[in-house]
Amino acid sequence: MSTAKKDYKRITTRSLIEMKANGEKISMLTAYDYTMAGITDGAGIDVILVGDSASNVMAGHETTLPITLDQMIYHASSVVRAVKRALVVVDLPFGSYQSDPKEALRSSIRIMKESGAHAVKLEGGSEIKDSIKKILHAGIPVMGHLGLTPQSIYKFGTYTVRAKEEEEAEKLIQDAKMLEKLGCFAVVLEKIPAKLAKVVAESISIPVIGIGAGGQVDGQVLVIHDMLGMNNEFSPRFLRRYLDLYTEMTKAISQYVSDVKAKEFPNENEQY
Ligand code: KIV
Repeated sequence: MSTAKKDYKRITTRSLIEMKANGEKISMLTAYDYTMAGITDGAGIDVILVGDSASNVMAGHETTLPITLDQMIYHASSVVRAVKRALVVVDLPFGSYQSDPKEALRSSIRIMKESGAHAVKLEGGSEIKDSIKKILHAGIPVMGHLGLTPQSIYKFGTYTVRAKEEEEAEKLIQDAKMLEKLGCFAVVLEKIPAKLAKVVAESISIPVIGIGAGGQVDGQVLVIHDMLGMNNEFSPRFLRRYLDLYTEMTKAISQYVSDVKAKEFPNENEQY
C-alpha cells in the first residue's frame, strides 16, 4: 500500500475513497461561517463539515436538537462561498429526516440546492435505511454517522462512550456494512472504543472518520472551536487543543478595552 500524498485540486467523494485505498489519512474539521471556512480550506483540510454542532458552538444551545434546516442552510451557504478545495458536507438537522424518507429527500434537496454543498450527513443505522436509500437514489452523496449520535441524547441520557457492550458493538458493525452496501461514501464513528473502530475500518472499503474513536481509522474530525481552544469548558479525552484561543482572544479584547479607555486607540497613524 502506497502512503504517498496525492495532490488533489478539488476533493470529491471519490478522492476520499481513493485516499483510504492509498493509505492516506483524511482530515476533517467543522466550520459554520465564511471566514473560518476560508482559513480552514486554505490550510489544506480535506473535508469541511457544517455540523449541527453549530447549535452548540454558534447558537449556545445545550444540545444539537434546536437548530433548524433553514439555519443549517444559512451556515452551509456561508461556508460554500469560501471553499475552493475541500468537500463540504452538511448535517441534516434533527427533525428534518426522521419522519419519513420523502421528508429526508426534501430536506437534502434543499441543502444541496440552496447552499451549494456537496453531500449530506445523517445520524443512525438500520432505522433510517429507507431515507438513506431515497437520498442516494436522487444522486445526493451521503455520509453516515454511528456510535454516539448527539441527536439521540435524550434516548441515551449521557454523552459517554458508546458500543462498549457486545450487542451494541455488533449492531454498529452491521450498520457500517449496511451503509457501505447502500452506497454511502464515508461514515463518521463518534466516541466508541478504538478497537471496535479499527474492526469497522478494516471491514468496509469506504472511509471511516473518527472522533474519539482512536487512530486506526481512515481519518479524523474535530469541532474547530474545540481544537482551537476557544472554549475551555469542554475537555473530553479525545480532544487535542492546538491553540489556546480563549486566553489569546481574552487578552487581545481586554487590551483593546483598556486602550480605548486610556485614549490610546486610535493614535495619529490610525485616523484620517
Ligand atoms: O455536528 C458535528 O460537529 C458532528 C461531528 C462531531 C462529527 O457531527
